[in-house]
Amino acid sequence: MNTCFKNGEILKDTAGNVLHAHGGCILQANDVFYWYGENRTGNRYVSVYKSTDLVNWEFVRDALTTEGKTAEHRVKTDLRLLNEDGGKINIERPKVIYNKKTGKYVMWMHVENGKDYRLAACGIATADTPDGEFTYHGCFNPFGYMSRDCTLFVDDDETAYFISSSRDNADMHIYRLTDDYMNTECLISKLWQGEYREAPALVKHQNRYYMLTSYCTGWAPNQCKYAVADKIDGKWSTLCNIGDETTYRTQPAFLLKLTGEKEQTFYFSDRWNAKDYNDSRYVVLPLEFDRNGAPVLNYTDEVRF
Ligand code: GAL
Repeated sequence: MNTCFKNGEILKDTAGNVLHAHGGCILQANDVFYWYGENRTGNRYVSVYKSTDLVNWEFVRDALTTEGKTAEHRVKTDLRLLNEDGGKINIERPKVIYNKKTGKYVMWMHVENGKDYRLAACGIATADTPDGEFTYHGCFNPFGYMSRDCTLFVDDDETAYFISSSRDNADMHIYRLTDDYMNTECLISKLWQGEYREAPALVKHQNRYYMLTSYCTGWAPNQCKYAVADKIDGKWSTLCNIGDETTYRTQPAFLLKLTGEKEQTFYFSDRWNAKDYNDSRYVVLPLEFDRNGAPVLNYTDEVRF
């Protein structure tokens, strides 16, 4: 049993295998945390692990593979889980949210064709249970826009938003989703034109919205910045530095807010290994807020939840 999360070390699941959930997200269902993320080994795209303490992770299943089930949901989505040469496509930054109205677990992700990075599409998949196999509903360009690094955010009123880098990563878009979370309903903001932000991660803290993003330097780490808004579809602040100049050699994956006795937010990030992607590591840090509401990210070797 692990007693704490050790940053930057090889993380193994409870069966002793290396945990592959890169660029991912954690979904809480009752008292269980499900960690979904990229797994590029073999025929896999997305794997899911579960935990009750956020430290010991049991492998649940591969949620999406090259042999995944597919089902059309809307017209003109590309349903292929392999490219025309029979090779793997790229599935990046999968995020999963639960839709209370439909009872479905809905995954959004970044999809490329496995050959070049020109597709810049978002894909969706659904499952009936958090530990189920996901059915892929294909990929598309929201309102025709390019869509790369992405995240999902569900507000207190259950309205969900999809946030993704567009125009060759120059701009960050926020889309409001339809009630079933299966499509973008409307593009509500184009943020920070020409700033090239990616790896978006959002959290709501004391009624304000905080978005963390990285700059665009491929697998190499860079300075993370945050912005704040009083309304998600309102005016966002300019970008301010957070963490050190390489964000402690990490890039944001997602922000996890724990509620309960004490509300606490954690920054989950990837420490990519550009030479050996499968040896990429994880770094988890507490995200604190100073008395003016500015988020603060300090480095620590290990984290207890
Ligand atoms: C990063 C991005 C990753 C992946 C990588 C590929 O900047 O955040 O998700 O797309 O580039 O080079």
